[in-house]
Amino acid sequence: MELKGLILSGGTGTRLRPITYTSAKQLVPVANKPVLFYGIEALRDAGISEIGIGVGDTAPEIEEAVGDGSRWGVEVTYIPQEAPLGLAHAVLTAEEYLGDSSFVMYLGDNLLRDGIHDLVDNFVRNRPEALILLQEVPNPEAYGVAECEGDTVVRLVEKPKDPRSNLALVGIYMFTPEIFECARRIEPSARGELEITDAIQCLIDRGLRVESHVVKGWWKDTGKLEDMLEANRLILDAIETDIRGRVESSEVHGRVVVEEGARVSDCTIRGPVIIGRDTYVHDSYIGPYTSIDRDVEIGNSEVEHSIILAQSRVLDLHGRMEGSLVGRDVKIIRLDQKPRAYRFMVGDNSWIGII
Ligand code: DAU
Repeated sequence: MELKGLILSGGTGTRLRPITYTSAKQLVPVANKPVLFYGIEALRDAGISEIGIGVGDTAPEIEEAVGDGSRWGVEVTYIPQEAPLGLAHAVLTAEEYLGDSSFVMYLGDNLLRDGIHDLVDNFVRNRPEALILLQEVPNPEAYGVAECEGDTVVRLVEKPKDPRSNLALVGIYMFTPEIFECARRIEPSARGELEITDAIQCLIDRGLRVESHVVKGWWKDTGKLEDMLEANRLILDAIETDIRGRVESSEVHGRVVVEEGARVSDCTIRGPVIIGRDTYVHDSYIGPYTSIDRDVEIGNSEVEHSIILAQSRVLDLHGRMEGSLVGRDVKIIRLDQKPRAYRFMVGDNSWIGII
């Protein structure tokens, strides 16, 4: 059975503002690679070569970043969704593309350590109407939540106030075309969306087989700052040292990637750290779990456990920066002019913690 892939990459990304005012949340890099690319690779590695990508307002940016998929040896088709009216709405939007294929739906902001190869095999072998992935989480009210009796899923509720279990729905699902009928039958939820969670509940109510699998390796929904930093930590934990740029008069400990064209001078770098192409880091300390994207400059500063996006500059900080997500083309610099004062040009929904 040939499966298709459907990656959902529309939506508004409100929880990652201000970064998402100018950029799709699925393109925010984790260890210098857009989150979305990990999803494409997971589908490709599971043997899926036809991938539809559901896109919204940020379509041009997503198309520019992904292209036709040939870089991954897959064929990408873009499926515009008129508005982010819910995951089940996105499935209906893709109905024509998916036709009578079974498919894997992958939320473009999700990351799963162990990939989906074995799960796809399972789905193809057992042929349930849906295969859902679950993981125990400390805050189930932020997710779709499953109630199970033994191995059987009996009830699914989207973001319940009083969750009946701590099993969250991972944003990766496998479906047969039976899901379309259910997506058509459901009504919008309290947040005004056609929820995929309700569509799967409809499969259960119709007596169709919904299998579940509890994921053991880590899973992250990167929709919020803390999750983004955590995903960055988890991915960096698995990198290997690879120094292609120039490292001069510096101490480098642990696993560190320095991409081509990057220059590190008079620094202490304590990995895991990734320093992007053409980035210049000097007279600084870069601590564990830091991803610095391309064309960045960091000088006379200490940075740890942070993600810094392309073209930004961080110069002469007195305190250490940590737990931070710095957007594109941001300048954090020390001014010598008098009177001595803080000067900010900060976008909506930004926040700054000072010491
Ligand atoms: O991450 C897992 C969770 O994902 C599940 O536990 C929930 O049951 C599921 O509803 C979903 O919840 P979120 O609130 O996190 O979904 P979000 O609105 O962030 O959308 C997920 C992805 O799908 C994101 O990449 C944007 C995209 N999307 C979203 C909507 C609502 C679309 O492409 N179209 C849409 O209409």
